[in-house]
Order: sequence, then structure tokens, then C-alpha cells
Amino acid sequence: MTQRTLVLIKPDAVRRGLVGEVLSRYEAKGLSLVAMELRSIDEQMADAHYAEHVEQPWYPPLREFAVSGPLVALVLEGDEAIAVVRSLNGATDGRAAAPGTIRGDLSLSNRENLVHASDSEESAAREMALWFPEL
Ligand code: CDP
Ligand code: MG
Repeated sequence: MTQRTLVLIKPDAVRRGLVGEVLSRYEAKGLSLVAMELRSIDEQMADAHYAEHVEQPWYPPLREFAVSGPLVALVLEGDEAIAVVRSLNGATDGRAAAPGTIRGDLSLSNRENLVHASDSEESAAREMALWFPEL
């Protein structure tokens, strides 16, 4: 089933010069780029994106990270794209993520873990409407 998913290449990846490396993995997998934009977000946008997490004790430092510099927002499309991109990204904690995944190969952090991807059809629809309302 063809799906679309919302991906963020987070500020740590932009700072580290890893945008091309991360994008190339999605492209090499066969996913199509539907939209892409370099953006800096404010606290309000961070809160909207991470609505499910705003009450977590670890949310304030996550918000600080999310607004710490530009990020790249994109929409990817392909067969089973939501699960496929989550699998390419790897587990949330870069220290535990499997080698071969983006986080497993390139991140050593549970917060600065390079990428975000929608985790369900519902969150993909919500996040695409938030980031790319024109789509
Ligand atoms: O991004 P993912 O869906 O894999 O993980 P999440 O559980 O939805 O958490 C969202 C983001 O919060 C993570 O990607 C981390 O950047 C951050 N996080 C954090 O800063 N501290 C934690 N203890 C857990 C997650
Ligand atoms: Mg999540």
C-alpha cells in the first residue's frame, strides 16, 4: 500500500552536515520525495509537533533541542512508507539502535537522534497537515 510519511532531519543532523547522508538512505531505499523544506521552528511549533510528549519530564530539553537550529522537514512516499522509514531510522535511543540504521550508525544519544518519522497513519496525517498544509 502506497503511503506518505512526515520526516524531520533534526537540528543535530543539520549541524553535523549529515542531511545528505540521511536523505541518500531514504532515496536509495526507493522512497520518493514529495516535499522538502529547510525550516527553523519556534516553541509553539515544537509543542504542536510533539503534542503527545509535552507533559513528559524530558520534554523541556527536547523542545530546546527542536528550536536550536534549522531542520529539514520532508514528506516521503512509497510502499508501506510509514513502517519502512521507522525501520531505516532505527530505535529511538541511538546508543541502542541497530547498526545499519540511521540512528544506529550515526547517533550516540537518546535525544539528539537525527531524525523523526510518523509512527502511524493517523500521526502521518496529523503531522503532514501541520508541516505542509498545502499538500
Ligand atoms: O522519535 P521516536 O518516535 O523514535 O521517539 P519518541 O518516544 O516518540 O520520542 C520523541 C523524541 O523525543 C525522540 O526522538 C527523542 O529525540 C526525544 N526523547 C528525549 O529527548 N528523551 C527521552 N527520554 C525520549 C525521547
Ligand atoms: Mg515518536
